[in-house]
Amino acid sequence: MQNKTDEHGGVEVVRPQWRHEEIAFRGRRLPAGERKKIRKALRTLHSLETMAVTIYRLQIGRAETELNRELIAAMCNEMTHQQDFQTRLYEYGLTPGPLRLFWWAVGMIFGIGSRLCGRRAILRMGIWVESKAVDHYSELLAAADWDDATRAVIAKDQADEQGHIQTWRRLLDLDGPKKR
Ligand SMILES: [Fe+2]
Ligand SMILES: [Fe+2]
Repeated sequence: MQNKTDEHGGVEVVRPQWRHEEIAFRGRRLPAGERKKIRKALRTLHSLETMAVTIYRLQIGRAETELNRELIAAMCNEMTHQQDFQTRLYEYGLTPGPLRLFWWAVGMIFGIGSRLCGRRAILRMGIWVESKAVDHYSELLAAADWDDATRAVIAKDQADEQGHIQTWRRLLDLDGPKKR
């Protein structure tokens, strides 16, 4: 998570207010073929993150457990990822794709389904989805001619996903190898 306390007098915020100079118009003069690749990649990333937010949101229970604490943090982190790609889409003069609604519905099914099956199913679902995301991020990093700032955002979000996998693996290990 970025910039949690700076410039805000110690008040914790997920992300500080963006100043207008932080918004850039990007890639407007790229050839049509290159813009098409960027549109496809950004829409895919945005859809994936929409699914991830939905899965974690629906997995969070009411008990004061470490798992629920981590699920709330993961949901929040995925919201920042979703924000990254939604913002980038509009900076590039693009819009989110209609398919995101399909991935949102998939997220509902995965989220509710795993929650009904309990703690281990929640953790295994997290590892599976995050692993798919990491693979996808690698493909999408190579898929288009990104500007440096966007490439850095994609790489940072991919590293966050690796951190999520470690968290779910650690919690799964606490259950002991036999229960896997
Ligand atoms: Fe993410
Ligand atoms: Fe993640």
